[in-house]
Amino acid sequence: MKPVAARVAAAAAALRAGHLVILPTETVYGLAADAANGEAVAALYAAKGRPRFNPLIAHVADLAAAERLAVFDDRARRLAERFWPGPLTLVLPARPDAAVSELARAGLDTVALRAPAHPTAQALLRAFGGAVAAPSANRSGRPSPTRFADALEETGAAAAVALDGGPCAIGLESTVLSLLDAGPPRLLRPGGLSRPVVEAVCGPLAAAASGDARRSPGRLATHYAPEAPMRLGAQTPRPGEAWLAFGAVPQDAAAVFPLSLAGDLAEAAANLFAALRAADRTRPAAIAVPPIPMEGLGEAINDRLRRAAGYVG
Ligand code: TXA
Ligand code: MG
Repeated sequence: MKPVAARVAAAAAALRAGHLVILPTETVYGLAADAANGEAVAALYAAKGRPRFNPLIAHVADLAAAERLAVFDDRARRLAERFWPGPLTLVLPARPDAAVSELARAGLDTVALRAPAHPTAQALLRAFGGAVAAPSANRSGRPSPTRFADALEETGAAAAVALDGGPCAIGLESTVLSLLDAGPPRLLRPGGLSRPVVEAVCGPLAAAASGDARRSPGRLATHYAPEAPMRLGAQTPRPGEAWLAFGAVPQDAAAVFPLSLAGDLAEAAANLFAALRAADRTRPAAIAVPPIPMEGLGEAINDRLRRAAGYVG
């Protein structure tokens, strides 16, 4: 296989030519397109089977690149300086001349921005130079891929180049904050940066308002759904069920897929989507999960589990 630098150069050339690229990030794998190229972005929506009203995150290398696309106030700058590159997405007013196509923004006058930390993502963004639209590389409604093989299985056929960055270290999509109102930032999506860590910098977050579901349609239910039904808050497995293990494994568990046997939330987050997929492949009667505490990353883990189970919220 070619060295990483050559593959990154090939991926940048593919983006410039309007093609799609499988992109590793520290959160989940993305399916990437040149954000300024409406046709490439249209191909991206089609490859995912994603409704065009659900806007995409524009990925940039750093804050300087982000400030060319959106209007940052002091609060936004403070968050970006503290957490970028990393698993935080900021929704901000788009600059009128922002080099992000209307389609990538789903026609909104706002733009979601993130600077990913994964070295391969950083290398691609710097080699390409522009903003890269990159939703999670799953087909719409399915769990996000956190392993290279899972990304290939989901949308690899649509990509001209696929970059292998190994297993995603965080395993949950970025935390999405809206900074559009004067009040506290709104949490549109709990994610890989936990609430206490964010709140230590910007104070208590506001809940997403009801209108936000339209503006951030990723909030709708029945995302991240496996084929098998989910059973949450389970105490012991039932016959035929797959068991996603968090903490001690119950004696009668037959098919065990570890999230974290030590009960560690960061480890559970990193394993969540891969374990869901592995369990689902065995076609179990259901996928059972014990209660996961709501603290720290537990908020985002429970959010994804509820959505996998099809609960509204
Ligand atoms: O970790 C991540 O964020 C991954 C990696 C690849 O970077 N990407 C990702 O993208 O999860 P996606 O498209 O699957 O989720 C983007 C979320 C959606 O919930 C979308 O509705 C929301 O961000 N979003 C994007 N632009 C927005 C905007 N202008 N206003 C409000 N929400 C927006
Ligand atoms: Mg997604």
